[in-house]
Amino acid sequence: MANSDFVIVILGAGKGTRLKSSLAKVLHRAGGRSLVEHVVRACQPLKAREIIAVVGHQADDVTAALVPLGAKTALQKPQRGTGHAVLVARRAIPSRAKYVIVLPGDAPLIRTDTLAALARSHRETGAAATILSAEIDNPAGYGRIVRNDDGSVAAIVEDSALNDDQRAIREINSSIYCFTLGKLWSCLGSLKPQNVHKELYLTDAIAALRQKGENVQAILAADSDEVLGCNTRADLAAVDAVFRRRKRAAIMDAGVTIEMPETVLIDPEVTVGADSRIEPCVQLLGKTRIGAGCTIRTGSVLSDAVLEDNVLVKPHTMVIASHLSRGTQVGPFAHLRDGARLEENARVGNFVEVKKSVLGEGVKSMHLTYLGDARVGAGTNIGAGTITCNYDGVHKNPTTIGKRVFIGSDTALVAPVRVGDGAYVGAGSVITENVPADALGLGRGRQVNMPGWAASRRRQMAAVARAAKPRPRKKSKRRAPARRSRTRSRRVKRSRKR
Ligand code: UD1
Ligand code: MG
Repeated sequence: MANSDFVIVILGAGKGTRLKSSLAKVLHRAGGRSLVEHVVRACQPLKAREIIAVVGHQADDVTAALVPLGAKTALQKPQRGTGHAVLVARRAIPSRAKYVIVLPGDAPLIRTDTLAALARSHRETGAAATILSAEIDNPAGYGRIVRNDDGSVAAIVEDSALNDDQRAIREINSSIYCFTLGKLWSCLGSLKPQNVHKELYLTDAIAALRQKGENVQAILAADSDEVLGCNTRADLAAVDAVFRRRKRAAIMDAGVTIEMPETVLIDPEVTVGADSRIEPCVQLLGKTRIGAGCTIRTGSVLSDAVLEDNVLVKPHTMVIASHLSRGTQVGPFAHLRDGARLEENARVGNFVEVKKSVLGEGVKSMHLTYLGDARVGAGTNIGAGTITCNYDGVHKNPTTIGKRVFIGSDTALVAPVRVGDGAYVGAGSVITENVPADALGLGRGRQVNMPGWAASRRRQMAAVARAAKPRPRKKSKRRAPARRSRTRSRRVKRSRKR
């Protein structure tokens, strides 16, 4: 696909007023990348002589995003319209280039094949300009392709300048064009800022070329989604949805089951092996690589994670920049981050956080634990509630636990500390000194049983409660004589009987 007589100019100097943002428009993200990065990546395989991006608003930030991708930049300051932007790029265009492909930096869905077809068609027809157009259902906001009665292109008319008849036209200008450079420069030189924004519009070059009797072509994009531009937040969301749909389709094509795919977010560089299953509401981000036969259950987020084959990630688990070896199981509600590494068949359960730690083969840490800056040998069991106290307020200190160790529940390992192979640590210990191999480490107060203490305590409490009871009220005192009188009368009766 060598196009060494072509240069590519990407227009990315605009502010993006309609986004109402402090961030330059082309740096906004959709489909897991900045808009302009998508555009450059689509252009790279064309092997043009040069990719030149026109930058202006937040030029330094936009340049920083583009240079690693091999694009040159040309500075447009102030930004006086798309026609002016191409004029600014002129000084960066090598004299040997014959053609230019111009693209806006805010239409990121364009595909390499479509650009290659545009370049081929332009070369074949010998046109002065070839416009990539598209027919869309809602053309509001786009410039329209106005054609003569014989079907030839007459002009591009911007949305703000349309008359009632032209407003019904559904064929829009994608802002992606091929120009023959020799014919373009003279036209651009004659552009006038005759529009509401007082800018030089590249679109006006089309009518100017036609007036000179030049051949201007417009070819329809086969997939109208490819030309969608991002002028508003709603446009960004629509474009993002297309990217995400494309990526999910590619992953499913590779033999992966995705349940309720519309709820699953997958970044462009993610790979997933065959027969893996992804449940609803999962996010696979960054450079995540998932092997074959893995299951990622609902609500989990994986970013820059590497999963070997047959890994199970249970619901609502975060795996960030971490490595899960074959057959490992993590979650639910686990958090693995910053270089956590689980060797084969290791298991991490609910409410366990693992940071910068290596858990050897078959290690189990199933409940309520923090393992930070730790190395845990194969076959070790970490009891519920274990904490590596790795931070002393200044430094992060390491904890080293050997093979086949048993760490009792609720143990605090005050780092730096080592527990040797085969050792036991009693539950509830605060371990501040190394535990030798095969030893029992106990770091807790000794238990004392006091016989009868609880029963005596209960009696004491009952007495206190009785004393605190309120005294009987006066009304009950008045009733007392009546009871006495009944008793007296009974005594009288008895004495009479005698
Ligand atoms: C432009 C086209 C319109 C087309 C639409 C497709 C013009 C006048 N209009 O409109 O016909 O239907 O794209 O998406 O070209 N830019 C610069 N320097 C400037 C101005 C803009 O580099 O001085 C860049 C912007 O950063 C952007 C691109 O050019 O990436 C297009 O500009 P934008 O303002 O988005 O034009 P639209 O209104 O979308
Ligand atoms: Mg635009």
